[in-house]
Amino acid sequence: MLQGKTILLGVSGGIAVYKAAELVRLFVKAGGSVHVVMTANAQQFVTPLTFQALSNNPVGRDLFSMDSESQISHIQKARMADLVVLAPATANLMAKMAAGIADDYLTTILLATTAPVLVCPAMNVKMWEHPATQRNLKTLCELGYRIEPPASGFLACQEEGAGRLADPGDILESSIGLLTPPTLAGRSVLVSAGPTREHFDPVRFLSNPSSGKMGYALARVAARRSARVFLVSGPCSLAPPPRVERICVTSATQMRDAILNLSSEQDAIVMTAAVSDYRPARTAAHKVKKSPEDLSVLLEPNPDILASLGQIKPPGQVLVGFAAETENITQNAQDKLVRKNLDFIVANDLTREGAGFCSDTNEVKIIGRGGEASDLSLMTKEEVAANIWDRVERILSGGDIESQQ
Ligand code: C5P
Repeated sequence: MLQGKTILLGVSGGIAVYKAAELVRLFVKAGGSVHVVMTANAQQFVTPLTFQALSNNPVGRDLFSMDSESQISHIQKARMADLVVLAPATANLMAKMAAGIADDYLTTILLATTAPVLVCPAMNVKMWEHPATQRNLKTLCELGYRIEPPASGFLACQEEGAGRLADPGDILESSIGLLTPPTLAGRSVLVSAGPTREHFDPVRFLSNPSSGKMGYALARVAARRSARVFLVSGPCSLAPPPRVERICVTSATQMRDAILNLSSEQDAIVMTAAVSDYRPARTAAHKVKKSPEDLSVLLEPNPDILASLGQIKPPGQVLVGFAAETENITQNAQDKLVRKNLDFIVANDLTREGAGFCSDTNEVKIIGRGGEASDLSLMTKEEVAANIWDRVERILSGGDIESQQ
């Protein structure tokens, strides 16, 4: 996700410096080229050698180093960055930035760069809540800096409250978002994800092994492209992606109610949820006791949410379905596309290795309204999501004629 991008990580002096080491690892793993600049105080907590080893690049730390100043290094560093991330950003660094002070290597770079800057504060809760810090924060927002707010919890100073450095995974996600063209800005999209549970007593239910990974990947990628994202999710163990509004549901009827409530305002709806087709006709109020007799559970059909959406689809809305199949993939998917009035359908063959339920990868076929099919090779679910949004964007902008036939 960060291939070909240069990230300048500015590290200032707080106890959270050790977490910045993990952040470097995540940036490098995502394909980014990372250059670390440390303030003098940051070097009291972790040595530059750690950052040098993790980033594979020399660490900038001295404005007046003979070596680097021969190339006016702070200006060079300011120019090379596609993104500047400040983690941890101390109260002192924020104050200097708000005032435009440039008295060391990092702060001179910050005045000289035109790259977007993501500020990730970390400090004691009282320092964070101090009116001066809050005023500086407001100034930084007005100056166009992006803020990754600190998390709440138990702090190194033994106090409880806001001030912990944001989770490195969330900082990575925001960084990717800042480097992604905002092609869905101003659009609202809804994604359904995960399984549903249909209870026949309070502790037993009918469900399926859907992990929710495909839907969560779609939500994450749409948020990176600056859409407003609603994620209606059945029970699963995944954390909601940052900047996504998640609505948690259990049964198919709850999922239908949540989706129909929001559907009319959406530019696009992608239904990846593995909705249970049937539910027990009645749910016992108490746990059904074991007995030597056979037990029959009568099932009744659940509402088909996607088919309902197809019937009430407002003009211009893009509706996308998924088809998990084990045989006659193309034909079954195409029938579904017509029956449910979709713009396109994403079919996956559940019998293939690395496709469908629970895996991190998927191998899908996208079928449009004109019957044209394109096969995508085995790729990560995030890459599949990017392909799906590319196609949604083309239809939204009126560019995908075949899909409108
Ligand atoms: O007909 P089938 O269940 O195979 O269709 C799959 C597509 O329909 C998926 O996009 C799924 O999310 C959606 N679906 C639905 N409501 C149901 C069953 C499936 O929205 N009751």
